[in-house]
This record gives sequence, C-alpha cells and structure tokens, in this order.
Amino acid sequence: VPEETIDSRHFRTVLGHFPTGVTAVTAIDEGKPVGMAVGSFTSVSLDPPLVAFLPARNSVTWARIRRAGQFCVNILSASQLDLCGTMASRSDEKFTACSWRQGVTGSPIIDGALAWIECEIDAVHEAGDHDIVVGRVLALEADTEGSGTPLLFFRGGYGAFDGGNG
Ligand SMILES: Cc1cc2nc3c(=O)[nH]c(=O)nc-3n(C[C@H](O)[C@H](O)[C@H](O)COP(=O)(O)O)c2cc1C
Repeated sequence: VPEETIDSRHFRTVLGHFPTGVTAVTAIDEGKPVGMAVGSFTSVSLDPPLVAFLPARNSVTWARIRRAGQFCVNILSASQLDLCGTMASRSDEKFTACSWRQGVTGSPIIDGALAWIECEIDAVHEAGDHDIVVGRVLALEADTEGSGTPLLFFRGGYGAFDGGNG
C-alpha cells in the first residue's frame, strides 16, 4: 500500500486507540526549567538501563532538552491533569504552578509525580518527523508508598486507572 494513501487524521485516530500514560520530560536549560508533556515514553533496556521518548523534531522544548544533555521523566498522576495541560502548552513559565526540586542531573523532579527517571542523552535517532531519544538512566525513584494513580490518555481524552494496585 503506498504511504500517500494514509490520511494523517486517520493515522492519529487509529493510533489514539493505544492508551498511554503521560509524563513531563523536564530539564534545566541555561538556568531555566523547561518541560513538555510526553506520551511516547517507554523503557528500553535493563542492562545497560535505557529508556526512550519520541519528541517532534520541530519541538522548541526538545531543542532545549537536547542542549541540556540531561533530562528527567516525571510520570504524572491523575491529579496532575492541569500540569499536563501546562506542559503541553507553549508557555515560557510552565513551573510556576507546581513545586519541584533538582535531582542529581539538575533536572526538575516535580512534586506529586508517581515516579521519576533521571537520564543523560545516550543517542538520538531520526525517525520521520520525530526523533527517538534514548536516555541512559542515572537515578530513579517511585512513590511506592503512595496511593496515587496514573494519568492516562486514550482516544484524545484523559482518564484514570480503574483497577487495583496489586
Ligand atoms: C498527552 C500528551 C502527550 C504528548 N506526547 C508527546 C510526545 O510524545 N512527543 C511530542 O513531541 N509531543 C508530545 N506532546 C505535545 C507536547 O507536550 C507539547 O505540545 C509541545 O512540546 C509544545 O511545543 P514546543 O515544545 O514546540 O514548545 C504531547 C501532549 C500531550 C497533551
């Protein structure tokens, strides 16, 4: 099937049937916290410990994260829907409505995140209009004591996890 028969709206609709969590990928660029909402996060390798996310090649925030060379993946909780909207916006002040601290890489760890994974950029692979960013994990922690549930994204809308925690 020639690829020009794949309509982009149809592509988005069909791929939107794959549910994802939502993360905020953050970094410190020239002294300023930067971040973007990212659904395309996945673990990649255990040995060595690698994770990945896929930013749009034209993302302004990705250019800043790339310049920083290090980043933190904050896994958002269902109570962080507003923060998700802020992180997906074009705002220059995405960190005024949340509290955060700096991890070992200096990248912002956002209070209330279910878990966070600090990385240095290991490799960047071009893939169409996106990049595949592979991060080597330097530190990570989860709020294992907490009862927080994840923010989920499915068919263009948000939801919460409706199940037990094991
Ligand atoms: C739920 C959700 C998931 C997203 N996932 C991604 C993603 O995987 N890759 C990406 O490049 N942008 C993703 N975005 C969009 C970016 O968060 C954001 O709109 C963009 O970084 C802002 O543009 P800028 O970086 O050019 O300022 C997502 C947005 C939302 C709301």
